[in-house]
Amino acid sequence: MYENKPHGGKLVNRIKHRRKIDSSHNSVELSKMELSDLELIANGAYSPLEGFMDQKDYQSVVQNMRLSNGLPWSLPITLAVSKKKAMELNRGETINLIDKGTVYGVMEVKEIYIPDKKEEAVRVYKTTDLNHPGVKKLFERPEVYISGPITLVKRPEKNKFNSYYLDPIQTRESFKNLGWKTIVGFQTRNPIHRAHEYIQKTALEIVDGLFLNPLVGETKSDDIPGEVRMKSYQALLENYYPKDRVFMSVFPAAMRYAGPREAIFHALVRKNFGCTHFIVGRDHAGVGNYYGTYDAQKIFSQFNEEELGIQPLFFEHSFFCKKCDNMASEKTCPHTQEDRIILSGTAVRAMLKNGQHPPKEFSRKEVIEILIEGMKEVYTNS
Ligand code: ADX
Repeated sequence: MYENKPHGGKLVNRIKHRRKIDSSHNSVELSKMELSDLELIANGAYSPLEGFMDQKDYQSVVQNMRLSNGLPWSLPITLAVSKKKAMELNRGETINLIDKGTVYGVMEVKEIYIPDKKEEAVRVYKTTDLNHPGVKKLFERPEVYISGPITLVKRPEKNKFNSYYLDPIQTRESFKNLGWKTIVGFQTRNPIHRAHEYIQKTALEIVDGLFLNPLVGETKSDDIPGEVRMKSYQALLENYYPKDRVFMSVFPAAMRYAGPREAIFHALVRKNFGCTHFIVGRDHAGVGNYYGTYDAQKIFSQFNEEELGIQPLFFEHSFFCKKCDNMASEKTCPHTQEDRIILSGTAVRAMLKNGQHPPKEFSRKEVIEILIEGMKEVYTNS
């Protein structure tokens, strides 16, 4: 049984709202992903990280999926600057981390180094193909990384999801108040469909509570926007879940689409939010055909359970089977492909775009209505 301990033993807190900002300091403009990483380092979601990674941690993570102290960690969390900017910076100086003129954090520059992006792409994403959205972003980032401990001095704007933004310390407190000892975390970047519901509820049969934690940070342009998804999750919870068994808050990180590596990362972060279990289904955090359907499950065998400190719950590809007249998976359904209702994300997006309703066996009608309405707005505004 796991004890809900944060990764590395202690929940990091690097938030200091009252810290004085010196505007004469050098400043570095953050990308959307870096701004969300800054906040997630500061609020302890990325414990034990206390800043953007130095070269030793970066290389160790890229090559061995471990921090240099040996602790499992699967994705590099880095801050990139141009060569020109790097020339202006010195080790030991304090810099302001800004977005559109506002200072959100400060960092003490520890190291300035040039990453081997090709190696990062091959090891983390398993491809250097620029059609992969994570790889594309990696190569579009500036060429130098800078590291150092950070402090968050101002929260990024939270006008979209208001009360659904919670720090790990708050989700942990909430789970305690609910009396939950075992909590299963669920990562999602897609509108919830019946297969998601099926695996969540199957998991709920063996734990006290479900922590629904949709990722609402930066995603690729054709993913359904976070606002629309959040509305659909609310409708689903309202109509089909027992209120006292589910807790929802948002995960403001950017999606990397790193498949297996991201599954480990997602699990460790949910451990920091207080989960004891974590759901990994088919092609977790995958995109296109870059990863095998169950690679994101197989990668867990490279670690021992104690060092991860969170129990993964693996689920096979789930679907509605017309002959079973039920949700099922390969493990439980003896029928053929023709009997099963399986729709790809791309097919569903195309249907929604045309105002077509995917079948109720695929997704709940309340969810579909919200998605069709929401997507109408997205397409008229775009
Ligand atoms: S992800 O990029 O966040 O993984 P998504 O929101 O689609 O994408 O998936 C959330 C979780 O549900 C992941 O663990 C994924 O593996 C799982 N999942 C999605 N669809 C299915 C399915 N049909 N059968 C089993 N697991 C699934």
